[in-house]
Amino acid sequence: MSKSVAKKIQAIRGMNDLLPSDSPRWQFFEEKVRQLMQRYGFAEIRMPIVEQTALFARSIGEVTDIVEKEMYTFEDRNGDSLTLRPEGTASCVRAAMEHGLLYNQTQRLWYQGPMFRHERPQKGRYRQFHQVGVEAYGFEGPDIDAEVILLSARLWQELGLMEHVTLELNSLGSSEARAAYRDKLVAYFEQHREMLDEDSQRRLTSNPLRILDSKNPAMAEMLDNAPRLMDNLDEPSQAHFEQLKTMLDAAGIAYVINPRLVRGLDYYSRTVFEWTTTALGSQGTVCAGGRYDGLVEQLGGKPTPGVGFAMGIERLILLLETLDLVPDEALGGCDVYLLPMDDTATIAAMTLAEQLRSELPWLRMQLHCGGGSFKSRMKKADKSGAPFALLLGEDEIAEQAITLKALRDDQAQQRIPQSALAHTLSEQLTHSQ
Ligand code: HAM
Repeated sequence: MSKSVAKKIQAIRGMNDLLPSDSPRWQFFEEKVRQLMQRYGFAEIRMPIVEQTALFARSIGEVTDIVEKEMYTFEDRNGDSLTLRPEGTASCVRAAMEHGLLYNQTQRLWYQGPMFRHERPQKGRYRQFHQVGVEAYGFEGPDIDAEVILLSARLWQELGLMEHVTLELNSLGSSEARAAYRDKLVAYFEQHREMLDEDSQRRLTSNPLRILDSKNPAMAEMLDNAPRLMDNLDEPSQAHFEQLKTMLDAAGIAYVINPRLVRGLDYYSRTVFEWTTTALGSQGTVCAGGRYDGLVEQLGGKPTPGVGFAMGIERLILLLETLDLVPDEALGGCDVYLLPMDDTATIAAMTLAEQLRSELPWLRMQLHCGGGSFKSRMKKADKSGAPFALLLGEDEIAEQAITLKALRDDQAQQRIPQSALAHTLSEQLTHSQ
């Protein structure tokens, strides 16, 4: 009989496992974000990962890369077309409308979680990736635009990233101003049709503003000379943009105006912005967003202004890692390894471990499990990364004591009464508390 070799099942391309060695960095980042949101008065919302396909088609736009090529869309058992969310804004608007959160009130919301886009995977670009997003509803003026930008800037400051990121800013104006500008732009591109690459030819009728976003060097000069949206803004959008700039100046936030920043999602109007870095190669946008004053109405709600952004967690973690900005304390996993020296001490060790966990809730302690020789127990203590081992054997039990052994330096080991243990550990492990 021939032996069949089972083919190993592997993860889906572009969808990554987060391994135990990675998760401390993520937890460090997520904890900073959670605190920051509280400090700025943003409340967390959690939306489902799957939505009706029509939600994304109607909000992000039928002729965008995301909707045309990148969505994970499938039919469920009822025959409904469902989609794994490619972003959070559409779901957040849907949820806020559905639960009456936009009725006669303002909202400041944030979320985090996985998003799905069928893009070509590369460093910093994945098919399942994670975003932290912020959305504010019901605010007309530019103060909230500045406030969300300041929130993101504070995160960069506190993570040590500020000098590695640049804020790019643009205004897309009102939808009417943009429609008039679109006609001007199409006329200009028609004059230079022979210079447009294939992708841009296709976009000329469907989404000509996106041509401005092209990175094709052969088109760079022609695009530089194209009419600028900034010069064609309606008066209220112009005023909104000027005020925003004044607010950012007052807050000491540097920015560069990028008149070609148009974003890949159709719902934006007025302010758009991106935080970019040159330290990650081609996937350098770590955070992006803007205003979307027409979206709630477009999805069937009362006209309600909206503004927000989303940051790519993988890209930010990569950046923190590249620049070595996660503090060692955040990476350390274990303070103490408690080991019964042989099997007769197992129950006493377990009892002591539980006692210590009640007394010192901050203590990160691993109790040795799985038996083995004394030598192999000590090896595991060493591998745990803990700076201290606590050894419990026959003598210690008889004396109601414990042996404290430093694993990372040559301090002499000491036997201390169990009653003094909590105090000694608190003194030795000040950074963990
Ligand atoms: P977005 O520009 O499509 O905007 O994505 C925001 C951020 O998510 C990007 O700047 C990037 O850091 C990260 N990102 C996007 N695609 C990938 C990917 N394939 N792999 C890794 N990271 C990725 C939005 O999603 C809007 N919903 C932002 C927003 C919120 N606008 C207003 N409110």
